[in-house]
Order: sequence, then structure tokens, then C-alpha cells
Amino acid sequence: EYSLGDSVAYLGRPLRIAILPHSQVVTVYYRTRPNAMALQWLSPGQTAGGRFPFLFTQSQAILARTWIPCQDTPANKITYTARIRVPAQLRAVMSAQLSAMDNKNGIYEFEMKYPIPPYLIALAVGELEYRPLGPRSGVYAEPSVISRAAFEFADTEKMMQIAENLWGPYRWDKYDILVLPPSFPFGGMENARLTFVTPTILAGDRSLVSLIAHELAHSWSGNLVTAANWDNFWLNEGITTYLENRIMEALEGKEYARMLSVLGYQDLLAEIESLGENNADTRLHLDLAGRDPDEGFTGIPYDKGRMFLTMLEQAFGRKKWDAFLKSYFDHFAFRSITTTDFLSFLQQELIRGDEQTESLLAIDKWIYGTGLPENCPVPTSYEFQRVETQVQAWLEGTPAARLQTDNWTALHWLHFLRQLPSSLSAQQMADLENTFHFTNSGNSEILFAWLVHVIENDYQEGYPALEKFLLTVGRRKFVKPLYEKLAGTPQGLRKAQQIYQKARRRYHPVTYLTIDEILGMKG
Ligand code: BES
Ligand code: ZN
Repeated sequence: EYSLGDSVAYLGRPLRIAILPHSQVVTVYYRTRPNAMALQWLSPGQTAGGRFPFLFTQSQAILARTWIPCQDTPANKITYTARIRVPAQLRAVMSAQLSAMDNKNGIYEFEMKYPIPPYLIALAVGELEYRPLGPRSGVYAEPSVISRAAFEFADTEKMMQIAENLWGPYRWDKYDILVLPPSFPFGGMENARLTFVTPTILAGDRSLVSLIAHELAHSWSGNLVTAANWDNFWLNEGITTYLENRIMEALEGKEYARMLSVLGYQDLLAEIESLGENNADTRLHLDLAGRDPDEGFTGIPYDKGRMFLTMLEQAFGRKKWDAFLKSYFDHFAFRSITTTDFLSFLQQELIRGDEQTESLLAIDKWIYGTGLPENCPVPTSYEFQRVETQVQAWLEGTPAARLQTDNWTALHWLHFLRQLPSSLSAQQMADLENTFHFTNSGNSEILFAWLVHVIENDYQEGYPALEKFLLTVGRRKFVKPLYEKLAGTPQGLRKAQQIYQKARRRYHPVTYLTIDEILGMKG
């Protein structure tokens, strides 16, 4: 006996099943509609190879329910098995272990034997090749992308070892990466055992692999110890962003990690500024009641969360702090928890009733207060001071070609681009572009930062690159601000609408629903 309730905005319709005293198993027979929000179906033209279609899912935050009837809350931890049938030329991958395969007939069976929250259930189907990266890691990508991908992610096993040394064993056996076509709406998604990533991180020089450090770190914070609901999103993303920085520090050195840290801090200040420092969404603990969680997500849980942990690290010292984190992951492994659980464990293991220490930490301000508490550490970087000197020299008239930029990493260039004033003359823009060729950068973060200047200064020569970017890349973090900036002027808005007319059907629902709103379009 079952009934379907009314449809509720964002949430869907409840499926109520009568459980009787003798009920042991409930089987739900269902079909998923092709327009389920979690799915994106790509035509061959939207893939790198151009010969076969592609399908992928994106279940976080509350889209698992759109393709699988399930109790779709991260408070719930489940195991799953699946049998997938696809056209024989294609291959299916899931966030689970491949338990059987008959590729002549296109049949793949999967088993996830560790309990995971439903938002980590994922499937992708396409023309995929696999390349091992290490003894327990590897990468899937389309054949024409696989070599670049394998080069880019060569440090994966090293990152796993760094993480294990700090926070205990990797508990999911294998760690694979799937490179998706460019319409993938996120940078990365930490699906269990199989991180999904945008191809825009294939910079060619490994300069964007902190994203892999981030998704890998979710194997501890998020996938192992999970926020029980999205109000506690910071437990996933803030802790992960902190871990990401620690992995990068061990991999690339302290100064590199400091540069990353400054960039993240700049993002945080910008986010607080744009939200307003009294905005309730600048609290670590969110109140998403009555809202689509996806709309309540900002950069705050990431970078304010990371700064909160950095503050704790500095207060207790690395030795005690690292031991704390390791025991936190052990203690709550395979469970879903709230901020209160985190804070009680912190009290029990580190604060231990020391009221003086406790008041210095100002924990309530961090968790339940808006804006940034006064005890927030301010990251600095010596390398970035050198960049600032060059920006200053250029603004005072030194031609771009005479600036000292030898041995700059992508992070130096990002800082350089962010330090430029928002208003530049066409001549200044041309000097930068002709000297540094930002539109040709393989690093999508650098290209994005440049395209922001292109729009802000209505720099005509930059528009072809902007249009090409918006027509190929569907990563929301990039395309959203670009459309927003364009929409800031009447002629920019016209240009945006022109581009969007062609681009919309290439984007994932997660992306086009966001852009529809910016451009005042209704589906
Ligand atoms: N889990 C998130 C992606 C996400 C969050 C999807 C909320 C849906 C709802 C993932 O770990 C993430 O944060 N990705 C970032 C990259 C990261 C390096 C900050 C992204 O996609 O930009
Ligand atoms: Zn994340």
C-alpha cells in the first residue's frame, strides 16, 4: 500500500509506503524521466570525441531523489548495488566497485559495500578509457583526453599518502577520477571512490590539482564523516577546504600553501562583502529552512570554515590539532553528524573545560555569528608581495614586457590579475594581452580572471574568447559571474542573451536554471 503526496517546491513528492508489522523488505518499481534534474544527456557534439552520446548524474545536494526514489537526506547512510545496461560501445561507471562486467553486451554491475549518503550515488556513461595512476588510483576519460588527464593527475597516490599520514587510512579501497565533458556544472564532485571533475582543470602543467586535493580530502570530511543536513554544510566543505590546503602544503611547500590561502581569504572577504556582513548566510551554521539548499550555498562554508580550523590549529598547535582531527575521523567514521557533535568532541578532546582557552576561541561567533570574527587569522604571502610590486610598477608606467615575472606560478598570475584595478584603458588591456597572452592560457582560472577584465572594460578584442568560453564551458562557478557581469550594462545584456541563446541547451540544468534567473528568462 502506498500513496504519492503533493509536490513541494524543490523537494518533490513524498512517496508514503505503509510498513506493516511483518514488513521486512520494501521494493519500489520505478522509471526515471529523462528530464530528471540530476541527469545531463549530452549529444555526441558535446563530447571531446564527437562520436557517441554521454550521460552523467549530479546528485548533491538534493537531486538523488530525481533519479532514484530514496530517503534523500545526508542523515541517511546506505549501501547499494546496481546493474546497468548500456549500448555496447559505451562504458558505465558508478560511485561503487565494479563487481561484474560483460562489455560485449554492455552490462556492468556495481556494489558499494560501505555506507554512503545518497548524494554520493553517481553514474556516468560514455566512450571512456581507463588509465591507472598508481596501485589504487586511476583516471577515466574520453580516449582523446586520457593522456592529458593521466599527466595532470600523476600525483594522486602521493596525495593519498599525505592524507593517510595525517588523518588515517583511506577507507574506500580505490580512488578514481572521471574527467567529464566541459558542460559538467561543477569543478569537482566527490562521488564515493570516483571523483567527477571538469576538464577545465586540465591546465597542462598540473597547476589546478588543488581541486583533486579537495575532492580527495572529502574521502575523510564529507564522505566518511558527513554533515547530517545541509545547514551543517560547513562540516563537509570547511573541513575539506582546510584539509585541501594541508595536502597542498605537504605536496608543494609552505609558501605555495600560503599563496592558496591568501587567494581563498580574498574570496572570503569578497563573498562577505557581496552578501553583506550581517547576512545570515555568512554564518557557518546555516538556516536553510524553506529554501532550496543549492540556493543557500555560498563560499562562506568553504573559506570561513577553513579559517575557523586554521584558527583552532594555531590556538592548540599542530601536534595536538592534527591528533584531534585524526581521532575525529575515527570517532565519527561512517556516521552523519551535526555542528554540535563536532563542538562536543572538540570540547572533550582539546578544550577540556579550560574556560580561558574557550573564550579566546570565540566559537559561538564563528558558528552562529555573521561576518568574520576578530580572531580570524590573516594569511600573508611573501611571493604575493613581489607580485604586488610588479602590479604597482606597471600601473606607474613600466611596460608589461619589462615586468619581472620569471618563474611565476599560476597562483602568482591569478594574484596579479586580481590586483589590477577594475578600470583599465584599451591600451593597457592590449599591453597585458599582447605580452602575457591570457586568452591563450591553458589555466581556466587565469582565463576566467582575464575575461572578467574583458567585460569590465568592454575590451572588444577579448569578446571572441569570452564567447567561445561561454559556449563550451558549463562550470557554474565560471559562467555565472560572467553572465552577471555582462548583464550589468544594457549592451552587455544584449550580448549575454545572444550568446545564451546558443549556449543554454549545452548547459546542465544546475547551470541553466541559475543563468535563466540572471538573464530574467523563464525556462
Ligand atoms: N561537493 C562540492 C560540490 C557541490 C557542492 C555540488 C554543493 C553540489 C552542491 C565539491 O567538493 C566542491 O566544493 N567543488 C568545488 C571545487 C573545490 C576545489 C572548491 C567546485 O565545484 O567548484
Ligand atoms: Zn567540496
